Amino acid sequence: MKNRERILEWLREADAPVSGAELASRLGCTRAAVWKHVAALRASGHEIRGRRASGYVLERSVEPIDAPTIARRLVGSWRQVEWHDTIDSTQHRARELADAGAPEGSVVLADRQTAGRGRLGRTWFSPPGVNVMGTVLLRPACDPSGVAPLPLVVGLAVADAIHGATGIRPGLKWPNDVQIGGRKVAGVLTELQGQIDRVEAVLVGIGINVNLAAEALPPDLAEIATSLRIEIGRPVDRIEVVARLLAALEARYGRFLVEGFRGMRAEWEAASVLKGHDVQVVGGGASVTGRVHGIDDGGALLVAEPGGRVRRVLAGEVTLRREVRA
Ligand code: BTN
Repeated sequence: MKNRERILEWLREADAPVSGAELASRLGCTRAAVWKHVAALRASGHEIRGRRASGYVLERSVEPIDAPTIARRLVGSWRQVEWHDTIDSTQHRARELADAGAPEGSVVLADRQTAGRGRLGRTWFSPPGVNVMGTVLLRPACDPSGVAPLPLVVGLAVADAIHGATGIRPGLKWPNDVQIGGRKVAGVLTELQGQIDRVEAVLVGIGINVNLAAEALPPDLAEIATSLRIEIGRPVDRIEVVARLLAALEARYGRFLVEGFRGMRAEWEAASVLKGHDVQVVGGGASVTGRVHGIDDGGALLVAEPGGRVRRVLAGEVTLRREVRA
């Protein structure tokens, strides 16, 4: 049993506060080390009252996360879940599963990633014990152009899960950032495996900042990222977020296969944080500047250039130029 789990067990059994000195002597470590363990437990959602000197009390603990616990709480038909305490990237593991013929709906989740990947070659901040990070394997029977709107569909599913777990309705920033109050709370990385005319697998990687504390954000993210916990002021059950996410994704993906993105376009536009704003979109060696009109049924961003021409942008990174006043 790890030291953190032992601390939890002792606090669970205790009928009075347990001091940091007592915990340190039981573990054979320093009080500073105990304090770090308690801080990590708090960051994972356990509510522990008290301080080193006065003693700690466990007010409420969250369920431990492992594959059977997660599977028990899933409500849809995607139940083939792998859980990793540490992995390089769930995208890599999902790719291995896809190559080995794993079925649609297979899910790889991790507590911590050592090489978490974001879009455009960036890294994804993946500390242990606080967030939801996973990859879902899909096998849509279509050509690569048919899956272009899929990242937007996934963004809607992430927003559904966040709304269900917290009551907050996040904004969506094309193509697949999920934001609260202008700060990124979740990201989606969609990778394709297949031939030019046939998709073999789509690896949908999703990272949601759930219980990350503001002080745990690295300096480069402090101004631009947030977490559910920061937004609602209390820890959120990560398994609930996973269960809601997979249920929402399965439902949205099912709809997408039948009716395409068209049926969800209005909903996406209603959540868009870009509509009516002046932007610059850079990608594929080109740059487009103009005002966002919306998106089309293929998931492309529609940008009206100053001359009036509307450009259809399929991929790129969007920067807001200035707020448009009504
Ligand atoms: C982005 O916004 O840049 C996309 C971030 C995607 C992060 C997730 S976390 C789970 C999965 N594994 C990874 O290495 N990346 C994705």
